[in-house]
Amino acid sequence: MKIVLNYPTRLDNNSYVARSKMNKRPNDKPLLLDLFCCAGGAARGYQRAGFYVVGVDNEKQPHYCGDEFYQADALQFIQDHWREFDAIHASPPCQFHTRMNKGLLQAQKRNKVHPDLIEPTRRALIETGLPYVIENVVGAPLVNPIQLCGSSFGLMVERHRLFESNIFLMSIPCAHGWQKFDKPPLHSMNGHRKAALSRVYGVYGNGRGKGETVAAWSIAMGIDWMNRYELTQAIPPAFSEFVGVQLMNVLNVEKPHNTAWSRLVQGTGILPAVVNQSRIEKPA
Ligand SMILES: C[S@@+](CC[C@H](N)C(=O)[O-])C[C@H]1O[C@@H](n2cnc3c(N)ncnc32)[C@H](O)[C@@H]1O
Repeated sequence: MKIVLNYPTRLDNNSYVARSKMNKRPNDKPLLLDLFCCAGGAARGYQRAGFYVVGVDNEKQPHYCGDEFYQADALQFIQDHWREFDAIHASPPCQFHTRMNKGLLQAQKRNKVHPDLIEPTRRALIETGLPYVIENVVGAPLVNPIQLCGSSFGLMVERHRLFESNIFLMSIPCAHGWQKFDKPPLHSMNGHRKAALSRVYGVYGNGRGKGETVAAWSIAMGIDWMNRYELTQAIPPAFSEFVGVQLMNVLNVEKPHNTAWSRLVQGTGILPAVVNQSRIEKPA
């Protein structure tokens, strides 16, 4: 299948900066390409799982928390650089698929304004043959995705997100119960009555109508380096750590130490069932 690329790339492959950064990549960690990275909610989780994470976004991302960042078109970058990586994560923009925007855009007859990048991204990822993950909102046309929820990870958000992959991914059920019954209602913390019915934060829009601060959102998401807009775009790192540990397990690479993956192997982490005992390194 031929990939048609309509975007110019802004990355200069031969620039001194690009080459010097690439030369410093550690050889003890597998490399993950983080496409459509924004400020790196997904990146942080993959780092915790043990990956060296290289982010790509077509906008400048001064707060990006991954190990390297390139301002470039994601589809062009896959075509030029996929051979350098062990695995790829992609979070194509989801405005097109959010329930709110679908309704709004349809009402305004503008529902074709945003390009839908999921399908071309999937085609490009499949062509690489690498293990990949595509993340998006509920309602997006992902193929056999698992769904993750903040309630499963002790977060004060639900933020249901879908994850499609060409590797087997285990899921974890929602645990909304503790969010409803175990915590004080948010209105008592926010001093705002509109939040009275909810004990979770909805990290979207500007939040000010609900009296929600960036600090409150940061705690709720498990993210402490982003501004308000970046938080609305992000997934909680707990989600990508959960997926990243599983991705790490299928890679035929020496597993890095002191990461979520190695903690998992020592029996202190999550997901014991996904560990393939025959591939575990014996501790020195
Ligand atoms: C939903 S955000 C990603 C959030 C990120 N995964 C996180 O957890 O923080 C989507 C990002 O895609 C970027 N983007 C949109 N079109 C792009 C393109 N063609 N190439 C690269 N990045 C693009 C946007 O600038 C935006 O930062």
